[in-house]
Amino acid sequence: MLFNKDYDIKNIFKKTKVKNKDKGHNFMVFKWIEKKAFKKGLENPSFFRGVVRRIAYSMAKGDPERVHELALDALNEHTDIIEEVSKDFDFKDLHVTVADLDVMPFGTAPGLDKNGDALRPLSKLFGYLKPGTIIVPEREGNSRPRVAIDEKLDEIYNAQGFPSKGLEYFTERLGEYDNKTIRCPLIPSVCGLPLEENLNNAYKELEIILRRIYPYVDGVEWNPFSPNTKALSALRTPSEFKRSAKLIKDLIGPKMAVVKMGPYDDYEEQKTNWLKLVESFLDGGGDGITAVNTYMVPKEKIPSETWGYQSAGRSGTFLQEYRQRALKDARMNFPNAFIFATGGIDSAEQAWSALQYADALEGYTPYTFKGFGLILEMADGLRTKLKENGYKTLREFLASREF
Ligand SMILES: Cc1cc2nc3c(=O)[nH]c(=O)nc-3n(C[C@H](O)[C@H](O)[C@H](O)COP(=O)(O)O)c2cc1C
Repeated sequence: MLFNKDYDIKNIFKKTKVKNKDKGHNFMVFKWIEKKAFKKGLENPSFFRGVVRRIAYSMAKGDPERVHELALDALNEHTDIIEEVSKDFDFKDLHVTVADLDVMPFGTAPGLDKNGDALRPLSKLFGYLKPGTIIVPEREGNSRPRVAIDEKLDEIYNAQGFPSKGLEYFTERLGEYDNKTIRCPLIPSVCGLPLEENLNNAYKELEIILRRIYPYVDGVEWNPFSPNTKALSALRTPSEFKRSAKLIKDLIGPKMAVVKMGPYDDYEEQKTNWLKLVESFLDGGGDGITAVNTYMVPKEKIPSETWGYQSAGRSGTFLQEYRQRALKDARMNFPNAFIFATGGIDSAEQAWSALQYADALEGYTPYTFKGFGLILEMADGLRTKLKENGYKTLREFLASREF
């Protein structure tokens, strides 16, 4: 609902002194414009950025999190338009296999739909979905403002601190999604939270989540790398990674289990530790990884004068080199692991670079700047790349890679 929720339409009519009999007509006109703008914003990144996004920011008085809520509302409001354009987002020659399903290679990264509020509309545009991160309790997270935007660099800084409507709410959304008829794999991001250093609570919560969501999902992504939640660092050891993978696989059996990995700097020691964690997760029975989560930066590096936290997770273009390094190192060491790529995949060039090592691509930050028309832009560019390099399909290219 992009044009009439917070932007109180009655007030607009009052201010412009519209006569009663004209109100109904004008409302219809607004609705018509809203629909047209929504459709064009879905298909065209420049229109999204220059028009739709600007209007949304003005409606939300500059609050990026409110803009995000409005965007999720708009997706649910305009399912008819999404249904109409859905087939244009599907290119058979770009299909890959994710969680045993034949789908487009673009997915949503966790954070984009934290609580599963827009699973259905998103499933019509993306190849696979990663809602979450889901935690057991309902939790507010840090107080707002906790998200800052760098408009020039296309980056986001966030210190949300795991806000969640909780497991029960999410399970209801899963019940509505109907994964029997919708062929778009659901791989929720999940995490049990340690209490201080007490890891038992983390495992207890992880088990509760998995038992509850198991029937509805095609896999899970375990997320021990959220940079804003300090207690999670106790889980980032080889033995806890192995233990977590075992627990997840015991509970979800043949369904896909991946771990979301954070970025690391270009130092041998950091790289070795990172690879050791991946190895331990795979040893425990895990199927693969997602690289990478946001990069932790200190307060003084955040482009906001009123930032109230000591740090934030930085995402978008800044992550591109971290993502590529992690993808390459992971692929060279674990040729058979399934690898999801994320971190500033904002063009066909970036998508092509990531696909030199990864099996599927997901994003959050780039879609907030360019809208979902970015999928069309990347699909078009990837098809050109395939053609230039002598491949008919993306699957053919992926199979040809040698590591
Ligand atoms: C506001 C915001 C919230 C996020 N929340 C989560 C989250 O709950 N769980 C998670 O694993 N990653 C979360 N992420 C990280 C993204 O999933 C992704 O790994 C990262 O932003 C890099 O990809 P991008 O450049 O496409 O955004 C969040 C990112 C942003 C910007």
